[in-house]
Amino acid sequence: MKAAWYESKGPAAEVLKLGDLPDPIPAAGEVRVRVHVSAVNPSDTKGRGGARGNIRMPFPRVIPHQDGAGVIDQVGEGVDQARIGERVWVYEATQGRAFGTAAQFTTVPAHKAVRLPDGVSFEAGACMGIPAMTAHRCVFADGPVTGRNVLVQGGAGAVGYYAVQMARLGGAAKVLATVSREEQAKRALEAGAHAVIQYKTENLVERVAQLLGGNARLDRVIEVAAGVNLAADVEMMAPRGVIAAYASDAVPQPPLPFWPMLSKDLTLRCVLVYVMSDEAHAEAVQYITRTLEAGAFVHQVHRVFEHDQIVEAHQACESMSNVGKVLVRIA
Ligand SMILES: NC(=O)c1ccc[n+]([C@@H]2O[C@H](COP(=O)([O-])OP(=O)(O)OC[C@H]3O[C@@H](n4cnc5c(N)ncnc54)[C@H](OP(=O)(O)O)[C@@H]3O)[C@@H](O)[C@H]2O)c1
Repeated sequence: MKAAWYESKGPAAEVLKLGDLPDPIPAAGEVRVRVHVSAVNPSDTKGRGGARGNIRMPFPRVIPHQDGAGVIDQVGEGVDQARIGERVWVYEATQGRAFGTAAQFTTVPAHKAVRLPDGVSFEAGACMGIPAMTAHRCVFADGPVTGRNVLVQGGAGAVGYYAVQMARLGGAAKVLATVSREEQAKRALEAGAHAVIQYKTENLVERVAQLLGGNARLDRVIEVAAGVNLAADVEMMAPRGVIAAYASDAVPQPPLPFWPMLSKDLTLRCVLVYVMSDEAHAEAVQYITRTLEAGAFVHQVHRVFEHDQIVEAHQACESMSNVGKVLVRIA
C-alpha cells in the first residue's frame, strides 16, 4: 500500500517519507479500512515533532494520523462479515498503535470504525474523531447545557467550532465565542454562536458581561488556552460553573487562581480525549452519529491535500493559522 511514515522524530520535511509498505491484515476483533480521507490534528504533528521533549519513538516506524474516513474492506476473526463495504469514520487509529490513517489501509479495533451515515462525505467523517469527540466531552461531561450561558474560547478552531454547534444544539441560553479575525467570526457565527468577541481587540470580560446582560454570568467555558485565559474565565463565571479545558499551548503551566475559584465553588475539568473513559467515548460516538444522521452539523475544511503533499499538510496544521481542518486525500 502507499503510505506516509516516519522513523525518527523531527520537522515534517526531514522525517516524513512516502512509499510502499505491506498491506496490513486485521487481527481478531479488528477491521481494515481502505482510507479515502485522512485528517491531520495538532496531536499528530506534535507527536511527530517531539513536542514537550517527547522525542522517543513509540514504535520503530509510525504511520501518522488518528482520524480518517473510508470503507471497511476486511474484518478480523469475531467481527461481523456484514461490515465489509460499510462506510466509516475512524478515531484514535494510532492510540497505542503504530499505523494510522495516512496510508491506503489502516486496521483498528472494530468499535473505532464508526458507521458514516448515508450522504455524509468522507471529508466530514474525517473531521469527527478528535475535534468532535473532544468537543462533546467538554460541552456535556458536566451535564446538559440547556438554558446555560456558554463561552467557547477559540470558537473557530477545529474543536471550538464543534463545541459551539453542540452547545447551541444542546439548547444553551447564550453561546458566545472568542475569535481573533473576521474569517473566524464568520465561522463561529455559522456554527451557531449568538455573538462573537474579538479577543485581541476587545475587552473580553466587559464584552461578555454586556452580551449576557444584567447580572448574568457564564455557567460553562470551553477553553483552548487555559494558561492565557483562566483568570478571566474565573472572573466571568457564575457560582458552581465549570471550565472544561483541553489545551494550554502558550502557557503550559497555568497559574491557578485558587481562591477566586474556591469562592465560586468552580470546577476546572481537564479533558484529554484519548484518556477519557470508554463510556465517554461511546456517548460521544452515539451523539455524533445521531447528529450526523440528522444533518445537523456543519463542517469546516481548510484544504484537502494530496497524499504526496503530506509534508505541506503537516506544516499547514502546525502553522495554527488555518481556519478549518487540514485533510489529506488518499487515492
Ligand atoms: N485535550 C484534548 O483531548 C485535545 C483534543 C484536540 C485538540 N487538543 C489541542 O487543542 C489545541 C487546539 O486544537 P485544534 O485542532 O482545535 O486547533 P485549531 O483548529 O488550530 O484551533 C485553535 C484555536 O484556538 C484559538 N486560540 C489560540 N489562542 C487563543 C486564545 N488565547 N484565546 C482564544 N482563542 C485562542 C486559535 O485562534 P487564533 O488564530 O486566535 O490563535 C484557533 O482558532 C491544540 O493544542 C491541540 O493539540 C487537545
